[in-house]
Amino acid sequence: MSSHISTKAAIAGITIEPCIFNAAGPLCVTKEELEAIGSSHSGAIMTKSCTFEPRPGNPEPRYYEDALGSINSMGLPNLGYMKYAEFSSEMKKYRKPYIVSVAGLSLQDNIEIVKYLGQFKDIDAIELNLSCPNVIGKPQVAYDFDASDEMLREVLKVNKHVLGVKLSPYFDFAHFQQMAGVLKKHKLAFVSCVNSLGEGLFIDADAEQVAIKPKGGFGGIGGDYIKPTALANVRKFYELLDRKVPIVGVGGIKSGRDAFEFILAGATAVQIGTEFMRSGTACFARVDAELKALMKEKGYSTLDDFRGKLKVL
Ligand code: DHB
Repeated sequence: MSSHISTKAAIAGITIEPCIFNAAGPLCVTKEELEAIGSSHSGAIMTKSCTFEPRPGNPEPRYYEDALGSINSMGLPNLGYMKYAEFSSEMKKYRKPYIVSVAGLSLQDNIEIVKYLGQFKDIDAIELNLSCPNVIGKPQVAYDFDASDEMLREVLKVNKHVLGVKLSPYFDFAHFQQMAGVLKKHKLAFVSCVNSLGEGLFIDADAEQVAIKPKGGFGGIGGDYIKPTALANVRKFYELLDRKVPIVGVGGIKSGRDAFEFILAGATAVQIGTEFMRSGTACFARVDAELKALMKEKGYSTLDDFRGKLKVL
């Protein structure tokens, strides 16, 4: 692939090359899975969202995909935050950023987790997940603007790392504005848009039943179904945060052309979820090669050449 074309990105001084890496969620729970991402072409290693206690997650089946995307109600299966801190020194050998996704079940849990992670210098960044749709009895923090404000204020007080936030998808201009108002009050290194779109429902007409077991079949939707929503969220937050806060785009990216669209909308980097689950670590090299080929065709040599430069009619 043309060596003069670069898909390198930087967030708060951290180099991400290529600008394509795994989304928190699929295939990033165990050390072996994280090592596979480390050995792949992924530009970073993102962990599964961790909680204070280890969790087995919800009953199976809890993930299902069709041709257009996925539904999940995993229920945060993870090894507990201490394990992801412990792994950090071993992840160093892959020479790419190691990012811990944090999804404590309460404000106090997030404070404790982020405080503890501060002791581990081999953790490059934290993505604070305010948008898990799948813990029974726990509404998404990102849909409560006051709770999000308090969460960010208290967590940032104890944080020592580069810290960004993972948002739920929003669907109304008033909500974009309210959340952007909250985000502007805090010093965030990046904003990831979007988490899976909850609460969706897949139905099998033949069997006359739902596709996954938890919560009567309801869960977070990913893949093609959510790409326009994800693009809209990237674009809106890019604009509302005055093009100053790096946006990480995620939602339905499965080709270099998809990645290009997200960067054109304003994304600094992109993450892959459903397509990574479907095709494994090979997707990172493929999407990067496709993105570079498209850039070459268009005469672009860096992401800065087109980032955010979406034309309107
Ligand atoms: C889970 C799903 C999500 O979309 C998320 O942000 C966090 C956790 C899950 O069910 O494990």
